[in-house]
Amino acid sequence: MSLQKALLLCSKDAGRFILGTRPIPRPGAGQVLVKNIAVALNPADFYIQKLAIFVDEYDFPAVAGCDGAGTIADLGEGVRGWRVGDKILYQSHWNPDTAAFQEHTLVDAVRIAKIPPNVTCEQACTLPLALATAAIGMYADYAQPPGSRSGGAALTEPWAEGGRGKYAGQPTLVIGGSSSVGQLAIQLAKLSGFDPIITTASKHNFDYCRAAGATHCIDYHATAYEQLPAAVAAITDKPLGFVYNAIALSKESQDAAWAILAPNGTLAVTAPPLVGKANDVAEDGKRVAWMSASVHVGPHQDMAKRMYGALTGMIERGDIQPNNVELVHGGLAGIPDALSCLEEGKISGVKLVARIADTP
Ligand SMILES: NC(=O)c1ccc[n+]([C@@H]2O[C@H](COP(=O)([O-])OP(=O)(O)OC[C@H]3O[C@@H](n4cnc5c(N)ncnc54)[C@H](OP(=O)(O)O)[C@@H]3O)[C@@H](O)[C@H]2O)c1
Repeated sequence: MSLQKALLLCSKDAGRFILGTRPIPRPGAGQVLVKNIAVALNPADFYIQKLAIFVDEYDFPAVAGCDGAGTIADLGEGVRGWRVGDKILYQSHWNPDTAAFQEHTLVDAVRIAKIPPNVTCEQACTLPLALATAAIGMYADYAQPPGSRSGGAALTEPWAEGGRGKYAGQPTLVIGGSSSVGQLAIQLAKLSGFDPIITTASKHNFDYCRAAGATHCIDYHATAYEQLPAAVAAITDKPLGFVYNAIALSKESQDAAWAILAPNGTLAVTAPPLVGKANDVAEDGKRVAWMSASVHVGPHQDMAKRMYGALTGMIERGDIQPNNVELVHGGLAGIPDALSCLEEGKISGVKLVARIADTP
């Protein structure tokens, strides 16, 4: 049995990550085996370490990691249209064989995208989870499956017929435009035609937000959440039927977004909703959508298949741009310290990326 390097989480109770080895899995029907070149770090990874969420139903040692890019090393039965050596990006899952913080990862072939030559693997791996989080919040149906609490604003996907530019002339707000998710929410809002696209960020990240498609940037250090509705009203007097809050951790941020949202509109939040129950309709027709951003479960699989089908072209044309990249020292071995920085809020306007070849 061949072994590979992997960042292992050995116990459920806030265990430490340890660089070790585990077997290289073989692809099953419909899967590809990816030899990872670069993997990206996400807040979900420190939640996995602290709380063992997502991984607790699988065998330990667990493996974290949501985002990867690399080359196809092997094809499972029935996989068509892909070849060994193809360079692809993917969102991972948390069954140890399908997680990203290791040298090889198994992925379903229907939800991968070829990396075009204008983007490196280090850049490409910044996209999958952030893109899925933005896309599910915007385009998934209200409750998927019916009665569940995960869903989106049910807007028309920009890669569907009639979707591109459909919301032309309608204003929107993305709270946290320099975050990984916020960057992709701005880019999707632009593809959907929203205008103006208003966002909040630190001043030094305004250019980053503008490059993604924001038309107006508000410095959240100078404008408190209570002042945000007035700041938005000074930019547009049109009703905002859709607001995306990528930094939804505080009640104040959700209250401000809810106050700005027009009647019958949808607020998408990346953290548990604090302004109402997900998908319930308030008296004025407003609803809050809270997404579970895995593309590998439930009905999000279909939306993800369509999105991945369009993704290579969108990256090639520059419609979808990766996050800024900051490389972690030491590859997989550098991830635990880098995750601490992420958890402490020390990361600004970049995605942390580990290059597998840098692992000792
Ligand atoms: N529901 C899901 O399935 C799901 C999936 C992915 C992520 N998430 C959640 O979504 C959130 C964003 O994740 P991420 O990976 O995009 O985070 P990230 O890139 O690590 O976020 C860092 C950014 O947050 C910005 N920020 C911090 N406080 C802010 C505030 N008060 N107003 C505006 N911007 C602020 C910072 O902006 P400046 O540097 O400009 O100050 C920084 O650039 C996290 O809470 C994460 O847990 C949820």
